[in-house]
Amino acid sequence: MWFFKAHGRQRYAGRGILQQSVPSTSRLSLSDLKEMNLQTRMPGVGTTIFTVMSQLAIEHKALNLGQGFPDFSPDPALLDAVSNAMKAGHNQYPPMPGVPELRAAIRKKALDLYGHDYDETTEITITAGASEALFCSLLALIHPGDEVIVIEPFYDLYIPVIRLAGGTPIAVPMTPPSGQSSYRVDWQHVRDAISDRTRAIILNFPHNPTGINLEESDLDALEKIISNSGVLLISDEVYEHIVFDGKTHQSLSRRPQLAANSVVISSFGKTYHVTGWKVGYCCAPAHISAEIRKIHQFNAFTVTSPMQYGLAQYMQNSDHHLQLASFYQKKRDRLYHGLQDTRFRPVQSAGTFFLLANYADISDMPEADFAKWLTIEHGVGVIPMSAFYHDPEAIEANNHLIRFCFAKRDETLDSALKHLRKL
Ligand SMILES: Cc1ncc(COP(=O)(O)O)c(C=O)c1O
Repeated sequence: MWFFKAHGRQRYAGRGILQQSVPSTSRLSLSDLKEMNLQTRMPGVGTTIFTVMSQLAIEHKALNLGQGFPDFSPDPALLDAVSNAMKAGHNQYPPMPGVPELRAAIRKKALDLYGHDYDETTEITITAGASEALFCSLLALIHPGDEVIVIEPFYDLYIPVIRLAGGTPIAVPMTPPSGQSSYRVDWQHVRDAISDRTRAIILNFPHNPTGINLEESDLDALEKIISNSGVLLISDEVYEHIVFDGKTHQSLSRRPQLAANSVVISSFGKTYHVTGWKVGYCCAPAHISAEIRKIHQFNAFTVTSPMQYGLAQYMQNSDHHLQLASFYQKKRDRLYHGLQDTRFRPVQSAGTFFLLANYADISDMPEADFAKWLTIEHGVGVIPMSAFYHDPEAIEANNHLIRFCFAKRDETLDSALKHLRKL
């Protein structure tokens, strides 16, 4: 479990250094490790909540609306492209930074959509999912003593990897939802959290788990925050193509000043319904990419060759990513309207394939208990929002909210809603 410790140089109530104790889910106890003369590199880390909840859903034959992956197949044209690449002999090590054709296709996409021209030879690197891009970026850029600002709630990978790099995560909480409104970032709080040790800010918009997006005014705020500060931005944009209601994704690569100080990360898993392939990428100025590639070279080294060739070919048709938002918007609406017929109070999602719902009218249980109860007793697996906080048991982390994933077949969503209406 993570716990919050007030910081000596605290400039506003929300700024805190995260420290960790050993959770009960660790497979080896500290004394086991001592006997073996081993010291864990990740002392606060156990099995992720996504694995725990998915396992619970399997055990209780519940519909899994917890973990973020589609329960439907990708486009057969993409499968054909990959299998053709295999048959054409693309089965040996591809170049370390990725297949040139795929990097060129990413360059064109970033230029078409965001107006930034990344040089594919030096600025675009294909990685083993967005996870490896995040891992390599943090290990390359964060040094012992550096502080990294993380906006809470946050995706679970960030904190352990910041710590592995020797950095100190600084949590800046969002304002939680009230009434019809969703979560909100207060940029003044982010500004207040910056110290002379701040090396980077991690951003993740469209945001998992809250489903909020950046507006142009947020980019303005970010420009002011990092101006002449030397602070880098690590922008996890894996849901870049899932932005609803006719809005456009505000990638950091849209603004030259932000792009010059950012690593922009994405994932083909989320865009093309192939989370199991683990292919992602990162775009960053050449001197930053060079450092990231040094870590990538001795980590994964490179990424499965036929997938890269298949993806490069599939990307030639931009409809495949441009139509993703309308595909998911129908599913979002199906779940949102369906939940309005239950005792849950859904919070509208502006992006990603996640939607939050408030259960205060049903139960007063803490979020983790409610999520387990819903999975076991009512056959619908979900993720408690508190799991995305550094202290899941804290009062601030428990707002009677659970996260649903709607990257599911319509039949799955309808069956889940049938269960939920009975509550
Ligand atoms: C915000 C965020 N970042 C990164 C990832 C990891 O992406 P990948 O599977 O491509 O490693 C996920 C996956 O759920 C995510 O939600």
